[in-house]
Amino acid sequence: MRLDKFLCDMQLGTRNQVKEYIRKGSISVNDMIIKKPDFKLDEKKDAVAYLGKLLVYQSTYYYMLHKPAGVVTATSDKQDKTVMDLLKDAAGRDLFPVGRLDKDTEGLLLITNDGELAHNLLSPRKHVAKTYYAECSGSINEEKIKILETGVDIGDDAPTLPAKVELLTQADMTYTIKLTITEGRFHQVKRMVEAVGGRVIYLKRLSMGPLLLDKTLPKGAYRPLTEQEITELASYNN
Ligand code: URA
Repeated sequence: MRLDKFLCDMQLGTRNQVKEYIRKGSISVNDMIIKKPDFKLDEKKDAVAYLGKLLVYQSTYYYMLHKPAGVVTATSDKQDKTVMDLLKDAAGRDLFPVGRLDKDTEGLLLITNDGELAHNLLSPRKHVAKTYYAECSGSINEEKIKILETGVDIGDDAPTLPAKVELLTQADMTYTIKLTITEGRFHQVKRMVEAVGGRVIYLKRLSMGPLLLDKTLPKGAYRPLTEQEITELASYNN
C-alpha cells in the first residue's frame, strides 16, 4: 500500500495534508524518515509513525449507533434517510449494519465492515440474545407472559424460541416490558406482542449479545466500540 493512502486510511488527514506531513519529514517507516508519498509499505508488518507516535493499522471497524426513529436500516435507499447517512465521518470503509431494526425502532445497532462477525452474530445457530424495551397497548398477565416466554405462534412455520420477559410497568390497557429473544425474525417483537393481543407502540433495542447500548450516546450519535467490546463480540466467531 502507498504511504499516503495508508495515512489517509488512518484518518491522519486528507490526501493533500498527509502528503505535506510526508514532505515535511514528519513520517517515519521502521524508524527511517520517508519523504515520498508513493513509498510502498506493508501495512501489516511495517511500523509507521507520525512525529514519533506509532500508527497502528486497523482494517476492520466497529461502531455502536444509537439509531433514532425515522431512518431505515440499509446502506442506501431512494426515499428515506438511512443509518449510514448518520455515519458520514466513517464513509468509505464498506461499512454495513448488522441485522435490521424497523424504521420506527430505536436503539442499539452495530455497524461494521467485518463480514465474518456479522455472519456469526446473525446466524440462527448462535442464538445471540437481543433485549428490547417495548411500550405496548393492551393488557398483559401471567398467562400471556408464559406464552411469550415458552414460544408463541406468530404465523411462521415454527413457534418462537423461548424468550425472557420482564414486566416493568402495567397500567390501564398499557404496559412496558423488557423482552429478550435469541432469534431475528421479521418484526419479531411486534408480532410476538400482537400474538398475545397487544400492540407495540414504542420499541428500542437495549442490547445485542455482550453489547449494551451506551446510555451516554444520544439518539443519532455513534462511537467506535472499545477494545473490550470488540474482544467480547469476537467470542461469537468460535
Ligand atoms: N422486532 C421488531 O418487531 N422490530 C424491530 O425493529 C426489531 C425487532
